Amino acid sequence: MGRATAHRFAQEGAARVTLFDKDAERINDVVSELAEIGCEPRSVVGDVSRPEDCRRAVDEAVRGDGRLDVLISNAGADSIHPFLELELEEWYRILDINLTASFVLGQAAARAMVAAGNGGAILYTASISGMTASTGDAHYGVSKAGIISLVQTMAIELVEHNIRVNCVSPGPLDTPMSLALLGSEEAMEAARESWPIVPMNRLGLPAEIAGTYAYLASADGAYTTGQNIVVDGGMTSNVFPLADELA
Ligand SMILES: NC(=O)c1ccc[n+]([C@@H]2O[C@H](COP(=O)([O-])OP(=O)(O)OC[C@H]3O[C@@H](n4cnc5c(N)ncnc54)[C@H](O)[C@@H]3O)[C@@H](O)[C@H]2O)c1
Repeated sequence: MGRATAHRFAQEGAARVTLFDKDAERINDVVSELAEIGCEPRSVVGDVSRPEDCRRAVDEAVRGDGRLDVLISNAGADSIHPFLELELEEWYRILDINLTASFVLGQAAARAMVAAGNGGAILYTASISGMTASTGDAHYGVSKAGIISLVQTMAIELVEHNIRVNCVSPGPLDTPMSLALLGSEEAMEAARESWPIVPMNRLGLPAEIAGTYAYLASADGAYTTGQNIVVDGGMTSNVFPLADELA
């Protein structure tokens, strides 16, 4: 999803895009792709659960002219553990990557935006797992619910600096994270062809989330702040399954 979003912003004319991920190989691929589009790619290899790495990423983004217009805090991790078996170490690991990093990155970015004085947009990837129960996912769900709450407070406190703060809550997507959770390429292929728990009967595409970020960062989103935009193919609206499945 980060890759699709970087592409979308480069195509929209972003002068530079700074990538921050722990996976150097993934970053290098995207850096080459962005350079071809004509945007200045910058990159930081680091761990979002290390506050010093988050600050290093923001420092690299503002290097030169001090400007940072948009932060998209999207890196995340998940693992499935039944509640009765969930270890405290795993609870903290997922909270550190998904939630504490959201605070640290968001604060560093907001401080840079306030210093530059041009306002900005701060965007987070939450999840429908932060709004609903997901079996085996208590730690992940809480981390994403925390982002939805963080967004509301940040939005109100930062409004005087013309900084808007929003998050997107995707449903199941066609990304490597889902592949890891589903366990095999065959299971992914089956989910691509049909995923009946989603009214649209398919996985979402990273480009569809990237498009929502582009809207939220643009002038079209100028009156939108403190919101959680759900992009889930109708999944969370579908409390009851189809009538013929009930029969
Ligand atoms: N895939 C889904 O179905 C889905 C649904 C809802 C929300 N999300 C959220 O979307 C976001 C993007 O996930 P994705 O689906 O593109 O998965 P992905 O696994 O393809 O991407 C996650 C990225 O985060 C990076 N990352 C993980 N831990 C990191 C760390 N400690 N430090 C730095 N980088 C780290 C990984 O290297 C990877 O590039 C995540 O926040 C995820 O929770 C995903």
